[in-house]
Amino acid sequence: MIIDTHAHLYYDDIVSEMDKVLERAAESGISRIIVPAVDIQTSVKIISLCDKYEMLYGAVGFHPGDIKDTESGDIKLLEEFLQHPKVVAVGEIGLDYYWDVSYKDKQIYFFKEQIEIAKDKNLPVIVHTRNSTKEAVEIITEKYDGNLKGQFHCFSGTSEDLDEILKLENFFVSFCGNVTFKKYKDINIIENVPVNKLLSETDTPYLSPEPFRGKRNEPAYIKYTLKKISEIKNIECGKLETAIYRNVMNLFFTI
Ligand code: NI
Repeated sequence: MIIDTHAHLYYDDIVSEMDKVLERAAESGISRIIVPAVDIQTSVKIISLCDKYEMLYGAVGFHPGDIKDTESGDIKLLEEFLQHPKVVAVGEIGLDYYWDVSYKDKQIYFFKEQIEIAKDKNLPVIVHTRNSTKEAVEIITEKYDGNLKGQFHCFSGTSEDLDEILKLENFFVSFCGNVTFKKYKDINIIENVPVNKLLSETDTPYLSPEPFRGKRNEPAYIKYTLKKISEIKNIECGKLETAIYRNVMNLFFTI
């Protein structure tokens, strides 16, 4: 069994064929999918999708790339969304210094605020970083109290960043379809992540694995990424999937 912990399934072109997307996901062995929000609008959409489709669970939060228009009052709404029984995380949140650094302070402010809310509600955080992993890890470490837990999604940090994350109990990393690309450079990072620290994700509709590179990604393609990771780590794919499944259940679905 596989869980896709990160699929942005709220885009119109996906919603319009949701039954088929979920059917293909189930055929690939996927039992649950977590849909992460980036702002208020997507949080609202995700909650209604969770009500409609049994397989779907949600994460609500403010993505650093969408923080420009976020206001302090929005945090109240976020707390309301977190009451929903199928919302299992605060996300995605974090820092993104790739697209736009003019809102750095605001990004940091909302990242910290949302971490506090997650701690308060005892929910995991889904952390997005781009050109900012070191600083995000520093903030998580500073806020870490043994109770804070979460995922560094689509991990793109250095070996040093990974070492710091591995020190935090209940923090995990996951990789996207780009690990299947010929020029993927961080094979050694994947080698160095213990299996008990790994999660599974697609980041649908982005970062489709080979042989679908450049096309719209979907949860069913998760198996290509997992297969590649199992080859890199020299573990039988089924064994890897079982171990990852357990990690995902422990983090998001508290078994
Ligand atoms: Ni995402």
